[in-house]
Amino acid sequence: MLRITVLVSGGGTNLQAIIDAIGEDRIHNAGIVRVISNNPGAYALERARGAGIDALCISPRDFPDRPAYYEALTAALKEADTELVVLAGFMVVLPESVIREYAGRIINIHPSLIPSFCGTGFYGIRVHEEVLKRGVRVTGATVHFVDEGTDTGPIILQKAVEVRDDDTPEILQRRVMEEAEWQIMPRAIDLIAAGRVEIRDGRTFIR
Ligand code: GAR
Repeated sequence: MLRITVLVSGGGTNLQAIIDAIGEDRIHNAGIVRVISNNPGAYALERARGAGIDALCISPRDFPDRPAYYEALTAALKEADTELVVLAGFMVVLPESVIREYAGRIINIHPSLIPSFCGTGFYGIRVHEEVLKRGVRVTGATVHFVDEGTDTGPIILQKAVEVRDDDTPEILQRRVMEEAEWQIMPRAIDLIAAGRVEIRDGRTFIR
């Protein structure tokens, strides 16, 4: 069984999608061993506890500086014998030490079709605001491996979603979640757990 730790900051609908997919056997040979949030008020923590998963808050505010926070986060990942780190709406930048240590074993969900509407400053609802401002007709979501850059790692899965004339950022965000994020995140985890995702020359190949 692939041991997954999910890092979250907010509502945790992607976490819920993973929990459901494991329960419904759409993800095989993997289990969530721990959920960690930087935000004590994250509803994601309640979802995890409701599903009987070990859930803890490690907040940067409880530490004197960033290195001390990162050290505690790393220790919590190791303590759970984490094999795959899943960023499911985690709004903290991971330190290079964690990215190196878990190279090829950290994945992130981003609410656009990378390389559009990604990088520094593009997260959460802001992505959908920019999509509507620019007037693109198609948006979507991307699951990718995490490297040292912001949203620059090898892409695993993407799914396109139509933008409609009467969309608000909130309506579009919900459609991107329902039609793309909640589908491709569990699917990517299942592929990784089956050993079917290979990284070569900055790209992924699914066998
Ligand atoms: C999701 O839409 C996810 O794609 C986005 O945050 C939301 C978290 O929702 N992530 C980013 O913007 C990362 N750059 P959730 O807590 O309900 O899963």
